Amino acid sequence: MTDEKGQSSRFGVPTLRTGQAHPHPEPIGGSAYSAAELMPGYRVVLLDQRKLPAIERYEYYVRADEVAQAIRDMVVRGAPAIGVTAAYGMVAGAVHARGDAASFLEAMRIADATLRASRPTAVNLMWALDRMSASAAQHASLDFAARTEAMARAARELHREEVAACRRLGALGAELVPDGATILTHCNAGALATGGYGTALGVIRAAKEAGKDVRVIACETRPYLQGARLTAWELAKDHVRVEVIADSMAAHFMAKKAVTLAIVGADRVARNGDVANKIGTYALGCLAAAHAIPFYVAAPWSTVDLACATGAEIPIEERRQEELSHFALPDGASVQLVPDGVPVKNPSFDVTPANLVTAIVTERGIVRPPSGEGLARLAAT
Ligand code: MRU
Repeated sequence: MTDEKGQSSRFGVPTLRTGQAHPHPEPIGGSAYSAAELMPGYRVVLLDQRKLPAIERYEYYVRADEVAQAIRDMVVRGAPAIGVTAAYGMVAGAVHARGDAASFLEAMRIADATLRASRPTAVNLMWALDRMSASAAQHASLDFAARTEAMARAARELHREEVAACRRLGALGAELVPDGATILTHCNAGALATGGYGTALGVIRAAKEAGKDVRVIACETRPYLQGARLTAWELAKDHVRVEVIADSMAAHFMAKKAVTLAIVGADRVARNGDVANKIGTYALGCLAAAHAIPFYVAAPWSTVDLACATGAEIPIEERRQEELSHFALPDGASVQLVPDGVPVKNPSFDVTPANLVTAIVTERGIVRPPSGEGLARLAAT
C-alpha cells in the first residue's frame, strides 16, 4: 500500500506526512510549534495532538463550548496546556457576550462551567478558570471591546507565566541531572503539554542547554501513546537523543542499570506530596524505588492543589473504552484490538504516593523529599 505521497507502509496503513507552519505571528509557546495560542481576532488555535506525529495540523475554535469539546477529545492535552486552552476558551466566550455587565457575567459563568467539566484530574484547568472568572468579574463594567481585550490580556498573561514557570523549574531541575544521564520519562510533559518548553521535558531541555550530555528513554504510554507519538516527536525535533520503549520494558532497562533517573510531569499534586499523573506512573515509581533510581516529578505551582489533602481525594478520569479496545489511526479510522462484547477499564491517571517520589521540582523551588511541610514552605514564598 502507498500513502498520498507515495510512501509505502510496512503494515498496510497509510503513513501520512503533512506539516503546517504555525499560524500565529508571535506564538507565546516560543518554538516552531505550539499547543494553544490566541490568534489576532480572538480565535483559539490548537495543534491537533491526536494526529501527531503523522500530521501536523492546526484547528481553529471560536466558541467556549467548542474549546471545551476539543479539550475533552484530546485535541489538546497535558495539565498546564489544558489550563492555558481553557483560559483562551473564556476569551472565546467573552467574544460572544455582547450584552450588559450582568449578561456578560452570566455568559462567563456558563463558559466557566462548560470548560470546567471537560476533564476532571488536571487541577490546572480549575486554577486557570478561577483566574479567568475573577478577571471577568473585575472587567464586567467595561464596554464590550475593552472587556474582551482585558480577558485576552489576562489569558495571554497566564500563558506567558506558565511558560516562564516551566523555564524556571527546568533550570532548577537541570541541577539534578548528571552529565551523561539516561533519563526515563512517561507520557508527554513537554511543550505540547504545557503551552511551551515543558515540565519534565523542560528539565531535560535545560540540562541539554547547560551543556550536559543527556539521552532519553520515552515509555510509549499505553493506551494513548503520548510518549511514543508526542514526546518522541518533540525531542527528535529538538535533536535530543530519544528512544521509545513499550511500558512493560521499563523494569528490564532499570535492572540493566540503563536508567540514571526517571522524571515525569503531574496532573495534580496533593498537599501531602502525593502525585496524580498518567496511568503507569505509579508502576514506574515502584520500579524506580526497587532499583534505587531517583524518581522526580516536575510541575508548575498551578498543578499543586493544597485544598486536596492526599492523593485519595484526586478525581481519576475514566476515559472511553475505545481508547484501549481500538487503535486509532490519524485519518480517523481505527483497528479493533479487543473482541466485541469484552469490557475494558480505562482509568487515565494513577496516584504515586509521596514516599516513592525523590523530589518535586517547581518554579518556586524543589521539595526533597516531598512533604506537606515542604510544600507549605513553598506556598508561602
Ligand atoms: O491525558 P493527558 O495526555 O492529558 O495526560 C497528561 C499527563 O498525564 C502529563 O504527564 C501531565 O499532564 C503533565 S504535563 C506537563
